[in-house]
Amino acid sequence: MGSVATAIDALTAAGQQDLAKALDQLDGPSQQHLADQVNALDLELVGELINEFVKGDQSDKPLGEVTEAETIPLPADDAGRSNEKAAREAGETLLRDGKVAAFLLAGGQGSRLGFDGPKGDYPYAPITGRTLFAQHAAKIAATRTRYGCDLPWYIMTSPQNDEATKAIFTAADHFGLDPASVTFVVQGTLPAVDAETGAILRATPDTISLAADGHGGLFTALRKSGALEEMSAAGISTIFSFQVDNPKVRICRPEFLGYHHLAGAEMSNTAVRKVSPGEKMGLVAKIDGTTAMVEYTDLPDELAEMRNDDGSLTYWAGSIAVHCIDVDFALRLTEGRLQLPFHRAHKKITHLRADGEVVTPTEPNAIKFEAFLFDALPMASVSITMESARDDEFSPIKNAEGSNSGESARELMNELYSRWFEAAGVSVPAAADGKPVNLEIDPRFALDADELAAKLPAGFTLDGPTALGPDGNKLNG
Ligand code: UTP
Repeated sequence: MGSVATAIDALTAAGQQDLAKALDQLDGPSQQHLADQVNALDLELVGELINEFVKGDQSDKPLGEVTEAETIPLPADDAGRSNEKAAREAGETLLRDGKVAAFLLAGGQGSRLGFDGPKGDYPYAPITGRTLFAQHAAKIAATRTRYGCDLPWYIMTSPQNDEATKAIFTAADHFGLDPASVTFVVQGTLPAVDAETGAILRATPDTISLAADGHGGLFTALRKSGALEEMSAAGISTIFSFQVDNPKVRICRPEFLGYHHLAGAEMSNTAVRKVSPGEKMGLVAKIDGTTAMVEYTDLPDELAEMRNDDGSLTYWAGSIAVHCIDVDFALRLTEGRLQLPFHRAHKKITHLRADGEVVTPTEPNAIKFEAFLFDALPMASVSITMESARDDEFSPIKNAEGSNSGESARELMNELYSRWFEAAGVSVPAAADGKPVNLEIDPRFALDADELAAKLPAGFTLDGPTALGPDGNKLNG
């Protein structure tokens, strides 16, 4: 809140004359509405971002020296298996002792998928049409049951999808979870600015064009909402964070929690082997000796294509954006202004011109500012990277079609469940294309292959596409 005059003065001092003039020309509730939005902006930060990303030199900054990250490999021998067992036990203890919170990043726009509504509402499952939110919720429920813990679930939304996301959870009765155990935190926004002049854009006469501040906004969102203090007071030490669009994600996998904890790490990564040098995944590596993420757009071709003697990629460690983050680390990062760098995104944004005309650009015309979660990695005193089997935990849904789409995720999920059934001694029929038939297993029935094998009744057979419900009942008859 604050007065219109305060807002006009602040805009004028910040060199935002167009917006100051537009505000001055409004009246009544519209004028107050826009003034309130202006007064809520951190104009000092916005000014710094404009100087850096609009007015400053935009040529590529040197990346630093990239070397391989140290990783904890998939266990291949007795020593590896014994380390993994120790990590699993440590992680299980953390879960049982109530030291872990699950954190879902769901504030993105999902523009590539082009799905109408929050991405978590996307019905990815081939038989029941189960949504991503339902899948994650079922895993949370199953993990709570397995470890007898509360496992609070925090979900980050953006101002653009917060209401819709909450409505989905309410309509679905929180997918059977206690509503008090699910907390929504809304991430912050920053104004979009004209790519040439740095002028703050308006979406309508009395609203600023605001965009979510990137997944790195989770730190500020957790701090401002009081969630970090709440976790700390509840004795929670570790946040397990994951993305909304990976139905295979192994939420709160104890091995990962355990490796992170035993190493005394502050923020850790899960990595899978990239399938090709050019795969569009962030690379976990070291930059000038410190663990960090190298965006695929920044990775020099000669490093991306470098191979070991056995032909495997030297820089193989693709990030699946699954992290452990210590609560104390997040508290430290958010003392004062968040110390994460921002990035510029050059986008097409429909907006009002200074004279009030609507401009619908055909070329990118605006700059949005975003912070990335993984930019916190170099600030961690200790960070570990655990290798995961790609087939077991990665099937992202980013695009409307082709690779990393709903279709490719369904196929990967069918293959995963097919392996689980085969391991339990159940043969899986093939569809007409020779691939496994459509399969679904509710995580509340089985979270993994071992649980499925232990729970399937003797003589269980599959004679076609099958969805197993929470009690192992066949939902499709
Ligand atoms: P992506 O980078 O895939 O972006 O987000 P997106 O917005 O979902 O999709 P596109 O790029 O528009 O197609 C990775 C994860 O980070 C979350 C997303 O919800 C997703 O789980 N995210 C992204 C946020 O929570 N906030 C943001 O501001 C951006």
